[in-house]
Amino acid sequence: MAVKMDMIQRPRRLRNNSILRKMVRETRMDKSSLVYPVFIKGGVGIEEEIKSMEGQFRYSIDRLPYKLEELAKAGIDKVLLFGIPEEKDECGSSAFDDNGIIQKALRSLKMQFPEMYCITDVCMCEYTSHGHCGILNGDKVDNDKTLEYLAKIALSHAEAGADMIAPSDMMDGRIGAIRRMLDSNQLEHIPIMSYAVKYASAFYGPFREAAGSAPAFGDRKTYQMDYHNKREAMKEALLDIEEGADIIMVKPALSYHDVINEVSNAVQVPVAAYSVSGEYAMVKAAAKAGFINEADVICEMATGAYRAGASIYITYFANELARYMDEGR
Ligand code: PBG
Ligand code: ZN
Repeated sequence: MAVKMDMIQRPRRLRNNSILRKMVRETRMDKSSLVYPVFIKGGVGIEEEIKSMEGQFRYSIDRLPYKLEELAKAGIDKVLLFGIPEEKDECGSSAFDDNGIIQKALRSLKMQFPEMYCITDVCMCEYTSHGHCGILNGDKVDNDKTLEYLAKIALSHAEAGADMIAPSDMMDGRIGAIRRMLDSNQLEHIPIMSYAVKYASAFYGPFREAAGSAPAFGDRKTYQMDYHNKREAMKEALLDIEEGADIIMVKPALSYHDVINEVSNAVQVPVAAYSVSGEYAMVKAAAKAGFINEADVICEMATGAYRAGASIYITYFANELARYMDEGR
């Protein structure tokens, strides 16, 4: 004999079909929140696949338009630019050279694609011979000396046409230094997206291969954050806002949803989550082996970051995500 259940609330009622499930969604994604990272290098006709990031390439400036065209068609209008310089030295001079890779790319890009919003990563590790994110004093990164360089790099990016500056070095005081430099050069309208909460993470491995920016000795733990800490994330975020940051980024995304959540509750500025190279590489490898469904996992990861509180999502899967959003996933 069947037992008559006396249940008023039945959560499954709202899961009955996909129209209903979409109606009651709490988290919705939008293409205008996506940012796509691009690696640019010198030379001509180069479109070189990054071994650890299948489907991602290093582009020479002349090949960039093809990629940007594809992005624009998919509805992506924001890129985050990384430069791979021809030459490196102790103090990363090519990072603030008016004829540096990013500066040249910006000028040509802004002419051909004035609508494409260009954010530039400001750091020194791709440009220094030792691969650290600042100027060395012995085997230590000299914080205050590095600030002068970061400010110069940011200024040269903005002068070459960058729409937004994104410092990723994790020196103390850099947002203030960059803000002051921009403001004293009539660039007070250029926003700063700070990599404020950037953890020393093993998930950056593929990026360092892509950009040739691995440190020649030691690690980045004296400047990037210890992943055991969350209260420190609030300190970093609030300090950067006081110094003038307009957007706060948390990086990586996947193992840091609790941090994204707490930071987004604590601050009054937009929060960006960066799904980094290692996250991309893991999904690609597992999907290739047939262990996961790539599209489903991409959507689940992205939604997780938004649900945690991010309103901007930086991802190497931006193109795919834009398509999935169009398909109404
Ligand atoms: C430069 C920089 C890194 C990333 C963004 N900017 C590498 C690092 O800090 O070692 C990582 C991005 C990624 O892994 O996708 N400092
Ligand atoms: Zn760096």
